[in-house]
Amino acid sequence: MFRFGAALLGVGGAIAAVPILGTLLAPARRQASAWVSLGSAEAFPPGQTRFATFLNPIRQPTDGDAAKTACWVRCISPGKYQVFAVNCAHLGCPVRWFAQSRLFMCPCHGGAYYEDGSRAAGPPPRGLFEYPWKIDGGNLLIEAGHLPGLEQST
Ligand code: FES
Repeated sequence: MFRFGAALLGVGGAIAAVPILGTLLAPARRQASAWVSLGSAEAFPPGQTRFATFLNPIRQPTDGDAAKTACWVRCISPGKYQVFAVNCAHLGCPVRWFAQSRLFMCPCHGGAYYEDGSRAAGPPPRGLFEYPWKIDGGNLLIEAGHLPGLEQST
């Protein structure tokens, strides 16, 4: 009876360990981000902010159009960019760029951001999240495959 109880306890412990190990090993299993192209850098002229989309490098074949991710590209001067996540830093609603006022506005709770992505007004606790970017072969590339977040922007 003791052996049966010990064996049952061992099986139960092994079953309980699976999700715990999965959680502990998740960072090691996480896919690395990747550089994806937003197209020719010439499509983003100096002094302008333009909408762009890219295919998330971490996607499933069944994702379809849901794998398309939006961002805002600001060309400060030739060869100098800022690429913002489209999601508001408050609760994630997609922000829109208003060139006339040079502000990003969030439709959900009235959050506003200056053209450099810094917080201007409303409930967002910080500025827009930014993607790392680089120019390669005349194309503007961003490091995607993860949600830009606090870990990279503090
Ligand atoms: S989600 Fe943008 S202000 Fe709340």
